Amino acid sequence: MQKRQHIVAGNWKMNLSYLEGRDLVREITDRLQPTETLVVLAPPFIHLNNIGNIIHGISNIYLGAQNCHWAEAGAYTGEVSARMLASIEVGFVIIGHSERREYFAETDAMLAQKTDAVLAHNMRPIFCCGEKLDVREAEKQEELVSEQLHSGLFHLSPDAFRQVVIAYEPVWAIGTGKTASPQQAQDMHAFIRQLIAEQYGQDIADATPILYGGSCNPSNARELFQQPDVDGGLIGGASLKAADFLAIVNSF
Ligand code: 13P
Repeated sequence: MQKRQHIVAGNWKMNLSYLEGRDLVREITDRLQPTETLVVLAPPFIHLNNIGNIIHGISNIYLGAQNCHWAEAGAYTGEVSARMLASIEVGFVIIGHSERREYFAETDAMLAQKTDAVLAHNMRPIFCCGEKLDVREAEKQEELVSEQLHSGLFHLSPDAFRQVVIAYEPVWAIGTGKTASPQQAQDMHAFIRQLIAEQYGQDIADATPILYGGSCNPSNARELFQQPDVDGGLIGGASLKAADFLAIVNSF
């Protein structure tokens, strides 16, 4: 089996002023040890260009966006297109974060279109899936995640799918301090990999990075990342402190 890429992505969400963001990235780049783990920084849009300049030429660190629109261009006030992001060397775009689904009414159909737009511009989608607490309590999490992947991703061709990164983020674990146990994460990641294998074959399934997100921090990252199907993390709160974020990057 080929070795899968390890990825740690920081999703800053709607945090940090321009100068605070600049300082955080300087600290991260100053202290980043050589690593095979791919590091992605996903700040709010206003930071992207400047952070792109700061990280330019540093290997293994990439620019990520938190969202994009599906259209190429046009009358969509307030939106940012995949084409624009690609033009400033964004490498990854988070698609379908649960906060986008919940607060901005993003549907699976929209997410499928956004995924297509990201891939059309040679960037990699970090496609988020995950259940809310009531779904987990009803033990329906596998059905829900399967539905999210089928509707948002499985229309892709095998070649396109090779660029996809998946993030499993149980909504009940996001920002709550309540992490999924390593076993809960492993079980869901193995299930997701099996879904990919059924759709695209074992080789593609084995090569697809599946990240865990939800209250991941320096104290629990190592145990989570030790699980065979957990290939890294999508980090919210802990990505806003250089020391915590770097400790997570170094947790493989
Ligand atoms: P927290 O790490 O703050 O729980 O957020 C996780 C997340 O939503 C990352 O996208």
